Amino acid sequence: MVTKLKRILLEKALIPPGLDKNGNLKKIKCMHISYKHKENAYIINLSNGIQKLVKNNVSHKSDNYEQFTVDINRNVFVKSILENIKYEPVYSLKPKKVVIDFSSPNIAKPFHVGHLRSTIIGNFIANINKYFHNDVVKLNYLGDWGTQFGLLQYGLKQKNISVDELTNNPIKNLYEVYVHANKLASVDDNIQNEAKRFFSDIEQGRSNLENWRKIRELTVQELEKIYRRLGIQFDDYHWESDYNGEAIKGLMETLEKQNIITTDVSGKKVAKFNNRNVTVLKSDKTTLYLSRDIAALLDRFKKYKFDKMLYVVDNAQTDHFAAVFDIVGKLDKQCKQGCEHIKFGRIKGMSTRSGNVVFLNDILDEARQKMFDKQRESKNTRTSAINEGTCDILGTTAVVINDLKQRRQKDYVFDWDRALQSEGDSGVKLQYLHCRLWSLEKNSGVTIPTNCEPELLTEEIIGEVVAELARFEEVLNRSLIENEACIIVNYLFRVARLVNRMFNELKVKNVDRELGSQRLLVFHSVRLVIKIALEIVGVKPLYEM
Ligand code: ARG
Repeated sequence: MVTKLKRILLEKALIPPGLDKNGNLKKIKCMHISYKHKENAYIINLSNGIQKLVKNNVSHKSDNYEQFTVDINRNVFVKSILENIKYEPVYSLKPKKVVIDFSSPNIAKPFHVGHLRSTIIGNFIANINKYFHNDVVKLNYLGDWGTQFGLLQYGLKQKNISVDELTNNPIKNLYEVYVHANKLASVDDNIQNEAKRFFSDIEQGRSNLENWRKIRELTVQELEKIYRRLGIQFDDYHWESDYNGEAIKGLMETLEKQNIITTDVSGKKVAKFNNRNVTVLKSDKTTLYLSRDIAALLDRFKKYKFDKMLYVVDNAQTDHFAAVFDIVGKLDKQCKQGCEHIKFGRIKGMSTRSGNVVFLNDILDEARQKMFDKQRESKNTRTSAINEGTCDILGTTAVVINDLKQRRQKDYVFDWDRALQSEGDSGVKLQYLHCRLWSLEKNSGVTIPTNCEPELLTEEIIGEVVAELARFEEVLNRSLIENEACIIVNYLFRVARLVNRMFNELKVKNVDRELGSQRLLVFHSVRLVIKIALEIVGVKPLYEM
């Protein structure tokens, strides 16, 4: 059934996400997202789900936003939002196939904070796309090929360690071997060359792959523990080694035939990109990160027929991806069109008690331990009364929200105290409010009504809260289009501040039952919005802490 509000708004093609301060709600300004659908036509996604195609008569403030003014009655608005707030998108565009390459660490090289960011941001992008019913493939492309394997092989030999001895904490052990060999190689070209030869042997099939296979397996088992802890599941694992010299021979020949690559004086195969030569294949025919990515991209296009292929990788690889897309575009324009490099900045100063090299697991352990200590201090409880699982979720929440609260392209300095604070704009605070709202719902003694009686909800704070709730869909929409979680996180912080005021200003217990139950409807709506938003940014909402 179309509500009165929806009818008015449909006629005007508008929906108001704002209220005026006095609660009278006369003229209100609102912001909507609209984006180009076709030439001269825009789709406007309105806060409560109405979708409207408009001709090009909209004066755009920026590419994505538009402001409207509309008259609306406050009570109609409050009722409509509280009864109709949708926790799933109410409109849908044609679902798109979206493949997201994220996390993608290297085997035998450290899982560094760049991979942490890629993991957190990529997971959010997958969630928001799923929310809008896109068909998402979460892809982890593991770096299991390249000279580092030669170095590793050298290091293992030199230290006289067999792969079977690595089982206990393989990521750290492999890292130590790698660092050791790298150090030796940096001062001795012979070692460097030997490592290259080792890798060339592997790539040309002259070397036994048994060790390499074991190393891969051990690393993935270890990685999966971390992903489980973060609540992430990949749909597919792909390997750089799938695109080794032998596998991409045919592709290289095609590129050569079409003059996309040529042989330079030193025997390397090179492609022209931005007026310079980039190496695609070394003179000894070994592949590079670039060649493997070119082959992998074409392969993915064939396999998934994606509309979008998103690479969540740090800023430092901007040139790399520009070259990949450019070279692939010369072979297949349509494939290139769907590609986007989702860049992000660096985290500085992230370290744990044990030092500067950061393994993701250590960060999460440290966050859990710190939450544990804090809880013990604040509650003065026996240690055994504090739940480890809760501390783990609180710790990951703190790290995730701290990361996603700024625009992804910004570099930021990591600060444990700020990340773990329980007041102000923090993940812990959001979890705390979610628990508190849940507890109110369970213990208020009244039930959540299905009908909203706006005449009972006259307080100014309610007008403000409802106005925020009405923006929820628009917020999600913007964060989808911009691939920016901070739009949702900052929205959550704003809602959290209002929730604090709601707890001070609106009693649910010890008031008239009807009034208490109407107020509970507002609290409940807010909790659901917080819950859904937390899940989208990749945080598991807590119900008790
Ligand atoms: N393994 C790479 C690194 O750690 C990131 C891979 C990103 N994905 C890709 N298709 N290149 O730098």
